[in-house]
Amino acid sequence: MQNVRKLTQDVYFIGAEDDRIQLFENMFPLERGVSYNSYLVMDEKTIVFDTVDYSVGLQFIENIKNVLGEKPLDYLVISHMEPDHCAYLQQIVNLYPEVTIVGNTQTFKMIDQFFDVQLTHKLIVKEYDTLCTGVHTFTFIMAPFVHWPEVMVAYDAYDKILYSADAFGTFNTLDGAVFDDEVCFEKEYMDEARRYYTNIVGKYGMQVQTLLKKASALDIQMIAPLHGVVFRKEIPMILEKYQKWSTYTAEEKGVLIVCGSIYGNTLQAMRGLASCLHEKGNHAVKLVNVSRTHPSYIIADMFKYSHIVFATPTYNAGVFPLMETLLQDMCMLQVQNKKIVLIDNGTWAPLANTQMIKKLGSMKNMECIYDAQSIKSSLKDISVLENIADALITSMKDNT
Ligand code: FEO
Repeated sequence: MQNVRKLTQDVYFIGAEDDRIQLFENMFPLERGVSYNSYLVMDEKTIVFDTVDYSVGLQFIENIKNVLGEKPLDYLVISHMEPDHCAYLQQIVNLYPEVTIVGNTQTFKMIDQFFDVQLTHKLIVKEYDTLCTGVHTFTFIMAPFVHWPEVMVAYDAYDKILYSADAFGTFNTLDGAVFDDEVCFEKEYMDEARRYYTNIVGKYGMQVQTLLKKASALDIQMIAPLHGVVFRKEIPMILEKYQKWSTYTAEEKGVLIVCGSIYGNTLQAMRGLASCLHEKGNHAVKLVNVSRTHPSYIIADMFKYSHIVFATPTYNAGVFPLMETLLQDMCMLQVQNKKIVLIDNGTWAPLANTQMIKKLGSMKNMECIYDAQSIKSSLKDISVLENIADALITSMKDNT
């Protein structure tokens, strides 16, 4: 059955959803699947923006055939060469041999690397080149490293739509909706938009800033990304979030307590710290156990909160491995600008703080706001928690 939605008079959503996928990029757990978005514009010349992942290609082909009918497909734009969006390139060329593939020089290099396809009709575009299909004129804007180097977005001045590639994408299937105002975005999609951004594009804050600057010169009434909802109501909200995330600015003054614990003693101490913070009236507190929570969720929370407490057992004279993995992820994604507190636990030689200081010291603007603390097996003197809580609250009141 075809599954198509109209965005405007002649612009169609022809993407497809995968509710069976467990791990995005074979790495990030998906609780509610993901959509692979594709858009078809039925102008005098027809144009499609991107294909879909191989897993949902049949749905995509059914959608495109349904909307095109007897009309030929004139252009296929490849905004991004990651296989979750370009997997059906070969099938499109087989179905519509006259189609012109639109990309930049890097796009075509990657097409040759991924595929054995002979392209008869190619259009190579560069920054601010335009393509007119009738009433629509698309301007191509390069967006390198949002998320791969060949990424480009397109702006249609007629409908004022930004076809934004991976930018502004979210996890979760759409389930019949397509626009942000057809779902409760804040409740159902916001956390997954943050997790998508921080883990997929989080490393490339500077490049996202460049794209945001280019976008600020455009009158954008709709943002059509390659995953998740199309924005038409919450555009200022999502732009503001991207501004914060890409400058590594916390959304909230609050404390994220990231805890590793083998037999529960470190966790018990951190529950005590969370209690102290609540008792003192600070309710923006979240405690996560690295053994129970996938790092991608913790990374997303790290972008959200201003303060992070790391508490970990010492393990083989180093950091508890699940905490170590998380620190490694933080380095890779260039998490920065955080006020931190470090706590380690060790029955005979608490050594994890030294390792954490080394690792966190290699990241930008990580400021320890309290002396690193060590627990010997289990916490006896709970006054230390009161002191840490006071230091965190004082620091959160400070606007620097
Ligand atoms: Fe959804 Fe970078 O691909």
